[in-house]
Amino acid sequence: MPSAMSRGAQLKIGKTKNIPKPNEYIHSMYHEYSSYCLDEEMAPQNKGHWRKNQFGMGSEAFLDLEIGTGNGYHFAHRAQCFPERQLLGIELKYKPLIQTIRRAVRSGCLNAKVMRYNAVHVDQIFAPEEIHDVFIHFPDPWVKTSQKKHRLVQLDFLLRLHQVQKKGSRVEFKTDNKDYFLDAMEQIQKSPYHIVGSTMDLHHSCWSKTNFITQFENLFLREGLPIHFALLEK
Ligand SMILES: C[S@@+](CC[C@H](N)C(=O)[O-])C[C@H]1O[C@@H](n2cnc3c(N)ncnc32)[C@H](O)[C@@H]1O
Repeated sequence: MPSAMSRGAQLKIGKTKNIPKPNEYIHSMYHEYSSYCLDEEMAPQNKGHWRKNQFGMGSEAFLDLEIGTGNGYHFAHRAQCFPERQLLGIELKYKPLIQTIRRAVRSGCLNAKVMRYNAVHVDQIFAPEEIHDVFIHFPDPWVKTSQKKHRLVQLDFLLRLHQVQKKGSRVEFKTDNKDYFLDAMEQIQKSPYHIVGSTMDLHHSCWSKTNFITQFENLFLREGLPIHFALLEK
């Protein structure tokens, strides 16, 4: 049974600042990494103004988003490889949130911030056409039939995400879960996204050379599982 914190999309999350006994990660959010972390109250206050408020940038700056950063290997890699682009991460859980931003900051990145928020409500934190590229790598699969409603990649979420992305921006979606992938592709086909390409076996496809292997991806590869991938464009 997943913990309350790990329950996915439709979970109503509580306010971090109301947690009576903050753990070390929550403490870091408000102290050591306070310049780089936003909680559920701070994040929506930046709606429409992320570039200026958080990065001191103008409206022409690139602003990308990673959803469910996990331990942040991809997040730090991306921030390092593209210092001219700003990168935001959304996480529900405190430990990965801090692991993510710590990794990026220790790598010298000045272009990265994270927030604790439920990504399903992406329209609460971003204005229409506010963000560029989006990364959704190995979202929680919710394998039981009764849990599938919690999956992130569903039509209503895709419509909200589409609205907050700029025209020409992309979504990179990866999962090891075949059932989730096939369901998601059905939903994507009903959405306004254009499917640039997709494969049931990323590591034997034309995208393998440019692919960055995330922590979860590495676990699945070691088990010999194929990785399913789709690239979408607004
Ligand atoms: C299976 S892990 C994958 C982590 C990483 N992307 C990787 O590939 O290694 C999924 C992550 O998404 C986070 N997550 C799940 N649902 C979320 C949501 N609705 N909003 C934000 N983060 C979420 C979880 O806390 C977890 O860290």
